[in-house]
Amino acid sequence: MGLTPRTPAEALAGPIVHMGTIGSTNDRARELAAAGAPDRTVLVADRQTAGRGRQGRTWVAPPGHSLTFSLLVRTEDDQLRDLPIVAAVAVCEACERIAGVEAQIKWPNDVWIERRKVAGILIEARPQESWAVVGVGVNVNTSEDEFPPELRESATSLAIASGSEVSRDELLDAMFERLTGLLDERPEAALDAYRTRDALFDRQIEWSSGAGTAKGIDERGNLVVFTGEGKRVALDAGEVHLHGLRPP
Ligand code: BTN
Repeated sequence: MGLTPRTPAEALAGPIVHMGTIGSTNDRARELAAAGAPDRTVLVADRQTAGRGRQGRTWVAPPGHSLTFSLLVRTEDDQLRDLPIVAAVAVCEACERIAGVEAQIKWPNDVWIERRKVAGILIEARPQESWAVVGVGVNVNTSEDEFPPELRESATSLAIASGSEVSRDELLDAMFERLTGLLDERPEAALDAYRTRDALFDRQIEWSSGAGTAKGIDERGNLVVFTGEGKRVALDAGEVHLHGLRPP
């Protein structure tokens, strides 16, 4: 573990800590946050032994072929609320810039290329202490056979999608630049950018207590759905887990 010199893009962030093998960058970033680490501290891991995903899932990524990092953001409530939108847009824009792919967002903040997941984001916020940790995992140069059999249909990597190997360093730089850039911009910019990449728009979706047609996100990041009876429902990402997507 050590601090490394910064490129111009890295200078936009706080301290960057490169870890070798670690349990989970999110766990470590949360410990550092509680211990007073500065805003925009970044932890990058070569390999995670206990990577975590949303809804209690694990996040497994082959070392050397993926990007796993966490960013500590110290800010006020409004910006914490907007983080899922900002993070999803930043990850899309960085992937597009470095790999030349077209990325979409599957609410709340999975990143898809051609309807396959290329990146996941786990945000863990402590609003009472005005901080959150944004954990990002990207399949960068992962090959088909490196995905577990049950994920081969639904996962992809930047290399698979673009047809050529992608520099993890350049991608990381672009991630920092977009994350810090969007955090410092007006919130509507990220919201507009999210809406242009909304993979669920007009799709039929199901969740534990209902089904309907997705019609975009509101200004709080809730997914707006119209049920068969024409009722408008706003789904909260913290509470609702989508069960199914019907084919378009
Ligand atoms: C998901 O799609 O469920 C979210 C996956 C988030 C994975 C990243 S990898 C870096 C950071 N550390 C973790 O333990 N998880 C996040």
